[in-house]
Amino acid sequence: MAKFDSSKLKRIGVYTSGGDAPGMNAAVRAVVRVGIHEKLEVFTVTSGYSGMIAGEIKAVDRGSMANIIQRGGTVIKTGRSAEFMKPEGRAKAAAHLKKHGIEALVCIGGDGSFKGAQALWDEHKIPAIGVPGTIDNDVHGTDVTIGFDTAVNTALNAIDKIRDTAASHDRLFIVEVMGRNSGFIALNVGLAGGAEDVFIPESNTTVDDAIKHIQRGLARGKMSSILVAAEAQKEGRAYDLAESIRKKSGFEAKVCILGHIQRGGSPTANDRILASRLGAAAVHGLKKGLCDVMAGVINEQVVYTPLEETYMKHKTVRKELVTLLQILSQ
Ligand code: F6P
Repeated sequence: MAKFDSSKLKRIGVYTSGGDAPGMNAAVRAVVRVGIHEKLEVFTVTSGYSGMIAGEIKAVDRGSMANIIQRGGTVIKTGRSAEFMKPEGRAKAAAHLKKHGIEALVCIGGDGSFKGAQALWDEHKIPAIGVPGTIDNDVHGTDVTIGFDTAVNTALNAIDKIRDTAASHDRLFIVEVMGRNSGFIALNVGLAGGAEDVFIPESNTTVDDAIKHIQRGLARGKMSSILVAAEAQKEGRAYDLAESIRKKSGFEAKVCILGHIQRGGSPTANDRILASRLGAAAVHGLKKGLCDVMAGVINEQVVYTPLEETYMKHKTVRKELVTLLQILSQ
């Protein structure tokens, strides 16, 4: 694990990067307030790496973090920066950080954001600790990422509503959820929402399996069904799935793509607590001279994992939950 000399650490910066996730505000608040509690001066960088390149950096106090713990999105804004992917962009960002006297960073985001933080350490020796903030939950080194719980509950809420109309019309619905290349959201939403089947990149559910399960339901008088599909699952996007099902079985499916609604909304208590713990853990890690690591929670304990491992190692879904879902929906 990389270390730096933190004995004279005075100024830290915090930024959110990549897709926003509910709970990011609670994490920023924790970094700022724990940082000040630890006698540090804390700065926020606006809009992630693009704000770093543009020098949008400002000092904050405890009061500026008031009334944000319950808010979705990120009040310090976020983004994905193409310029930061290039060494020249990173050099500009590092120069702005140094101009403000910022000696260490807390990066709240997902794998792409952590790669950026790692590059700042490798190329400019600016130490950083990551905090996993993404609805996708696809980060190794933590049982759960900030925003995942809220996104699952938001999608679940939508499924419960879809179920009302599906039951009223005896219809089949395919609900597509986010997750980039992973099926964490889809699997949890499918299990909690009583879906007939779930399509995720990590498992091999086929269109034929889903048709069999729908027919099994019909045979016992179940007239409406819900299939949950992750955006990156193997059989294609939700409309492709609907078309394959129609061609193979004649069943007409309504498609509902939940999209960015899953990224918004007030964070759940679980996300606020996780964000508060991990924001604090990031500051405590920097105080101890840790860097190039991510703070996560595994089995309720805070752990630090090298940033590189967080995106090189693959976090897998619990496949037995797919089987459980299929048994429960019989
Ligand atoms: O990583 C979070 C996420 O919402 C993914 O689930 C999704 O694939 C992607 O971001 C969407 O990105 P954008 O908001 O840039 O369209």
